[in-house]
Amino acid sequence: MFIPENLIPTDIPATWRAMEKLYYSGKARAIGVSNFSSKKLEDLLAVAHVPPAVNQVECHPVWQQDKLRKLCHSTGVHLSAYSPLGSPGSPGYSGPSILSNPIVISIAEELQKTPAQVALRWGLQMGQSVLPKSANETRIKENFDIFDWSIPDDLMAKFSLIKQACVRLLKIEFAIHPQSGYNTLDDLWDGEVDTGSKRTEPEDHSDFLRCFS
Ligand code: A2P
Repeated sequence: MFIPENLIPTDIPATWRAMEKLYYSGKARAIGVSNFSSKKLEDLLAVAHVPPAVNQVECHPVWQQDKLRKLCHSTGVHLSAYSPLGSPGSPGYSGPSILSNPIVISIAEELQKTPAQVALRWGLQMGQSVLPKSANETRIKENFDIFDWSIPDDLMAKFSLIKQACVRLLKIEFAIHPQSGYNTLDDLWDGEVDTGSKRTEPEDHSDFLRCFS
């Protein structure tokens, strides 16, 4: 059971040294991190002897993680995208939808693919791995069918018109505690995530219209 009083202050350098020991001992072939902001990754790279092989973060066309991707590419850390479809249907989540985004839909229609396929293919072409989840056989097959075609440059460029919403699916509020060392959500996410209360955005078609102007 999770008891906040059992939290201890986060010591990322010490934790990483322990992971490096596992790497040097051969017990781990690769070591990596997840949910690291650009700041946390830079701080870790400054002290690491073994750089993380991967940083696995939420990433999709509505939260493209441009700053983090640039840092990952320039430092050789692989970016791996979880929730690459925005995890539609997740309980309690009312954040931005990827699969009903008008730009994603228009690109899918142009290529005669599904919105999910173009969202995943966009991720691959941005250089990341994508980790979609489905419990449905048809959709699993659909999600695999993204390797023998590509999104042309002119349509790739349209993804940059998508209004960004850095709204995490899980903000991990439970980690905010005097004993964890994180006193606010902005403190935990280094100001790189929109930590405002969950919002349902009104329909905004301005980026869609810009896309075709
Ligand atoms: P289902 O399991 O019924 O297919 P993410 O990978 O971003 O976390 O999203 C997972 C969610 O997206 C699941 O609810 C899954 O539902 C749904 N999903 C997975 N693949 C597709 C797809 N190709 N089209 C529509 N929804 C999908």
